[in-house]
Order: sequence, then C-alpha cells, then structure tokens
Amino acid sequence: MNTTSKIKGAVSQDLRHDSAIKHVTGRADYTDDIAEPAGTVHAYLGVSKVAHATLKGLDLEAVKAAPGVLGVLTAADVPGVNDVSPTGKHDEPLFPTEKIEFHGQPLFAVVAHTRDAARRAAELAVVDCEVLPHALDPVAAQADDYPYVTDNLTLARGDADAALEAAPRRLGGQITIGGQDHMYLEGHIAFAIPGEDDDVVVHCSTQHPSEAQHMVAHVLGVPSNAVVVNVRRMGGGFGGKESQMNLFCAVAAMAAKKWNRPAKIRPDRDQDMMSTGKRHDFVVDYDVGYDDAGRIQAVKGDFAARSGWTSDLSGPVTDRALFHADNAYFYPHVKLVSHPMKTNTVSNTAFRGFGGPQGVVAAERMIEEIAYDLGKDPLEIRKANFYGDAGRDVTPYHQTVEDCIIDRLVGELEDTADYQERRKAIQAYNAQGGILRKGIALTPVKFGISFTATWYNQAGALVHIYNDGSIHLNHGGTEMGQGLNTKIAQIVADALQVDFDTIKITKTTTEKVPNTSATAASSGSDLNGMAALDACNQLKARLVAFAVSQWGVTEEDVVFLPNAVQVGPETFAFGDFIKQAYMARVHLSAAGFYKTPDIHWDRAAGKGRPFYYYAYGASCSEVTIDTLTGEYKVDRTDILHDVGRSLNPVLDKGQIEGAFIQGMGWMTTEELWWDDKGCLRTHAPSTYKIPLASDRPGIFNVKLADWSENRELTIKRSKAVGEPPFMLGISVLEALSMAVASVGDYRECPRLDTPVTPERVLMAVERLKAKGT
Ligand code: MTE
Ligand code: MOS
Repeated sequence: MNTTSKIKGAVSQDLRHDSAIKHVTGRADYTDDIAEPAGTVHAYLGVSKVAHATLKGLDLEAVKAAPGVLGVLTAADVPGVNDVSPTGKHDEPLFPTEKIEFHGQPLFAVVAHTRDAARRAAELAVVDCEVLPHALDPVAAQADDYPYVTDNLTLARGDADAALEAAPRRLGGQITIGGQDHMYLEGHIAFAIPGEDDDVVVHCSTQHPSEAQHMVAHVLGVPSNAVVVNVRRMGGGFGGKESQMNLFCAVAAMAAKKWNRPAKIRPDRDQDMMSTGKRHDFVVDYDVGYDDAGRIQAVKGDFAARSGWTSDLSGPVTDRALFHADNAYFYPHVKLVSHPMKTNTVSNTAFRGFGGPQGVVAAERMIEEIAYDLGKDPLEIRKANFYGDAGRDVTPYHQTVEDCIIDRLVGELEDTADYQERRKAIQAYNAQGGILRKGIALTPVKFGISFTATWYNQAGALVHIYNDGSIHLNHGGTEMGQGLNTKIAQIVADALQVDFDTIKITKTTTEKVPNTSATAASSGSDLNGMAALDACNQLKARLVAFAVSQWGVTEEDVVFLPNAVQVGPETFAFGDFIKQAYMARVHLSAAGFYKTPDIHWDRAAGKGRPFYYYAYGASCSEVTIDTLTGEYKVDRTDILHDVGRSLNPVLDKGQIEGAFIQGMGWMTTEELWWDDKGCLRTHAPSTYKIPLASDRPGIFNVKLADWSENRELTIKRSKAVGEPPFMLGISVLEALSMAVASVGDYRECPRLDTPVTPERVLMAVERLKAKGT
C-alpha cells in the first residue's frame, strides 16, 4: 500500500515553498524586520579609498565629533583576536593595523544613534597612508611576483607532456573568465543583542551560523557558548554569505558589548558590493592534444585566479576549478595547476559552483576549439570525449566515475530539442549573410557533490513532538530561498506519516544544533535531510517500543498510517497516540546526526574520492545576435537535468530555472570593472547588469530526468540541485560563439572572453570582418 499519497506534502510531491506567500506579500521576516528594542544603535563601516598602502595613521576625531555618534571601533578596540579568517589562517584582520590591501577595505566602524548619522560620520575620517603600487588581476599579480594566498593544487594523471608531444593535433590558448557579484536581494546585515556576562545573541543573514558564532567568540575573546547566532531566512546567499558575514557579525557584537545596547549594521548596496567578496575571475592557459576524430589525448591547464587580499575560501574555490576542468570529459593524460593569486582587490569567496563553473568553461572552450579546427559540430566532439566504460572513467583526481548518465541525458535532449534539424536551419539562415546571425549549442554538466573539506560533510537535526502531536523541526541548514526547509519538513512528514502542516519549521540557531557546516556545496538537503530522518527514526523506534509494551503486540503490528498509528486491531489518530506515549513517559525529542560515507581526499597527493556522487545535466540554447550593434537575445533554451528522485519537483525546477538564468547572466551581461586606482566602478545595479525577466529565453523548456535515481543511498535517492544547473548557462556562451563565428564562415573559433557583453560580441564580429573572411 502506498501510504505516502495520503498525507499532504510528503516527499516527491510538488509542494510550493513554505514561505512563498510570505515572500511575495512582504510578510516574510528578514533580519531587518526584527523589531528594534529601544536604545538600538547603528554601526557603519569606514572604508579605504586606495587599493594598496602603508597605513600610518587614522584620524577619527571628526568622526567622533559628528552629530549622533557614540564612538568608533578600530583594531585597538578588538577585545579578542583581530581576525575573521574563515579557515583559521589568521590572515584576515577585522580592521587593519599596518597595511591597506584593497579599495573598499573596512578600516573602522562608527556607531551612532541612527544609521544615517553613522553613515555620514564614516565619511569624515582622515586616513594617513603611503600609497604603494598595486596589482588588481591575476596576470598583473603574477608579473609582480605576488604570492599565492594559500597552497595551490596540482592534479595529474599519466604523462601530459609526452602525450601532448605525441598527439596528432595540438592547440593552445588563453581565456579570461570574469567574476560575478552575488546580487542577493537582501544585503549583508547583523543585529546583535547583548546579554548578561559575556553573552550576546546575533541575528544575521549567514549561510554559516556556526562559523559566525565561532568568529564572534574569537573576536570578543569569549568561549563559543557565550554566543548565539540565529538565522530565520536569507534573501539570497548564493555563496556570498558563507564567510563574508563574519565581519558584520563581529562589528555588531563588538558594538553591542561595548555600549551594552542592541546594535545593527547594514551596509548600503554600494558598500556591500565594494567591500564583500565575489566570484573569482580566472585566467586559464590551456594546451590540448587530440586525434583527427577530435578525441582528446592530453590536457594541460594553468588556472590563475583573482583571490583578493586574503585566502578566505580561495583554496577550496580554486581546487574545485580543477575538479571540474574535465567537465564530463575523459582526459587520458592530464596536468592541471591552480594559482590562487593574491591581488589588491576584495577577497573573493564562494559563489554557486565554487570555482567549478570556471573549470567547466575552460573545458568547453577546448572542445569548441577542437571542433572548429576539425570543421565538426562541437556536439560531436563533446560526445566523443564523454566519460565511458572502464579505461575511460577515471578523473584527473583519480576518482572513478561510476554513475555516468551523460550519454543518455545528452541524447534525449538532442532529440527533444530537435538539435540537429535546428542547427541545419540556423546554418542555412546564416548562409544568407544577413545582419542578424544565429547560433545554437548543447552543453553538458557533470558536477561532484560533497564538500571537498571532508569534515564538513556532517549535519545535525532536532525534532520534538509536543504532546498534542504537533512537531517542531530544527536542523543545521539555512534557508536562502532554495526551499531547504520545505524539503526537510517533507522528509519528516514522510517519516512520521503526518501532514506537512503538522510540522513547524523554525529558525536556524546555534543553540539547538551545534557545530554545523555551511549550507553550501549544494549539500543542504543531502546532509540535513538525513540527520532529520535519523531523528525521526529514533522517535519512531521509541514509539514502537512503547506500543509493544503498552498493548502487548509485536513490532510488526505497529504501523504508521497517514496521520494515524495502527496498533494491532486498533487505530489511533496520531495526536491521541502521542498523548498516550507522553502519559507513559516516552522521550519525545530526538537529535539526529549524519555523515556522508565513502568519501576521502588526499590533497597533497591529488588523489581520492572527494565526491559521493555526480549530478548531471544538459542545456541547449539558441541565440540571435545583431552584427551591427553586438546586441543579442536568447530565443530558446531546452534543459534536461538530473536530480535523481526529486524530493520536490516544482522546487527543483525553480532551482534549475534560477541557476540557468544566473549562469547566463554570469556569461553575458554581468561585468565587474575596476578602474586603474583599483576602485570597483560597477557597484550598483545601475552599472552592473543582471538578467531581467525580459532577458529569459523566449522559449524555455525545463525537464527533470525523471528516470534517474541516485545509485548511492542519499535521502530518498535524490541528488543535490543547488549549484549544478548554474553551469547550464554556458550553452548561451557557446551559442553566441557560433553566431559570431558565422561571420567568418566558421573557419575560426572566436576566442571570446567572458562575460560576452554586447561590446565583446561586436568587437569579435568586427575582428572577423576585418580579416576579410
Ligand atoms: N537558491 C536561492 N533561491 N537562493 C540562494 O541563495 N544559493 C545556491 C543554491 N540555490 C541559493 C539558491 C547555492 S550557492 C547553494 S550552495 C545551494 O543553493 C545551497 O542550498 P542547498 O544545499 O540546500 O541546495
Ligand atoms: Mo554555495 S557557493 O556552495 O554557497
């Protein structure tokens, strides 16, 4: 009997986001909506106006004398350790003492009665410094012998040099891949409320409450048990709130303790964009050897990244760029090296895909170049290089790809999107030589799931059943719009066989589930879902034992029916059953735990099984460009994506659509631009263009590969969905590339750097025209 169909909101049902109506009616509470107690003060950051300098003095007299100001916080006011580095490297002072390392670096905070007063006062600082030469990008940094911000990584298998020498064909090149601002709708914010003794409670918008807690404790010089961090929800995080919140939490907590008043800090959008980290830009040099059929024999790649002034998460991000520099392709001989370059820019951080997308772009560029060199359809080259059977199934990090479904997935999409016919029609259209040109591309994605920091792959959950049968659910993950809370509540509903509405979803708090990992690496539902299931299984075991002793039945006689429990011949409503269990003194609260099995990673050796499994997807995009202006539009996109057995198809589709659009924005219009003084000039939506609703593909078909199921024992055999579909946006890049190439009759692969802004399209078209081809 399929009991799951009888409860409302069980696993695999299309259930809308639990806060959907609150989101769209403005009734969802974010940190800034929490009622401010009387006496709340406001902090604002004073930031550097130079990119690199020796700091000689900071004159804050005018700041302190400004109307409404209570005082300032500088490095000298840090009671504990002046460091907010997320990796324990101690390379990220909260406020600098000797050196200024980027334009926009927080130098101090001012605290005032109103946010407006603090913001005005912050401008009055007089900074005495001696300006030094700066390097803003990885190429300049390498030329100036700047160091790595963290140990770099090499992945190697076989003998790449010898295989390149021996290959019948060989080509090389360079691609510059731009960064990206997170553009979460809700910016950074922290609100700290002081308590007695050392205590402080911080409400904030972070993907990583435990880290914020530990960081505040570290900066205040108090044990972690004095600090509570709460997150009800974020208005988007996308990786930008994994470590970047540390600074704001620390400042709010310091102000709260110093003045013994509630203290809030919320930068405006410009400061948020200038002073917090983004996606890493990369410069990739590649060298690839292949045969006449386009089969790759060897790859060498150097991946230099703009890491910014500190390590932050640049280690794992540049590692993951290498982990995905194969995308879905087998490289028989390979050597990949990362170069996490220090630069005089804001320290770059996590962003959906964590460096993986940059690796995938490099892989796809190589494929395209091979295709143009051989005069073949890039899709043919892609297929020729997919991971396959034994002998062609080992990654550059020596993990065997055991679950490869990319052939089937791409084949299905090729059919349903009518790729071959449309490509022919587009070639015929372009052959007319008009001003408008079209392009089409079908690109695959394979994405490894697990934190590469193995110890992060753990989670906890806490489930209470109250004696009226209502359920309180808490877990270590955070909600940023992705629907994690909805999915976990569905898992609990399913496990206990109660309607979804019986379960109260509660804020994430370090008080209930300790030592949590960031909600990141797409692992939120994999990890926390399993922990919640573990808690439910403990509760069920206790309830079954209770029924056995109470009614003298066997364990098999106790069945959890929809909203009821059957005990032998009798059936009780769930609430009645729970009331009886309570009267019999059954413990109705359980803490669950989970850790991902079967993963290991030896970074020094570059070998292991860092990923529990892979998620796959493919997208096919068609574009039209205007060769006189460089403007373009996406006419149609078809997507087939693998989420294993979906926990919630409608939420998963939402993730896929959103990720595709965000990936498309990264590839096309989202351009970060620094001037020669190192000032980021694209620091607001006025100058930084994310896709609008009107930029979505004219036709947009998104399908789940509903035949897929995870071969690993993940929660309900589902797969993670948060990040993998971001890379589906790369099909737009390759379609634009084809449209541009048509101007030169496809003889040359356009070496387009990203983002492929209309300017870049126009320049590439002009270059081809100038060649007279
Ligand atoms: N979806 C929304 N709406 N908002 C977000 O901030 N972040 C993405 C993805 N989807 C994000 C999102 C990123 S970077 C990650 S790692 C995952 O969600 C994290 O959540 P999950 O592990 O629960 O999928
Ligand atoms: Mo996502 S970049 O792992 O927060």
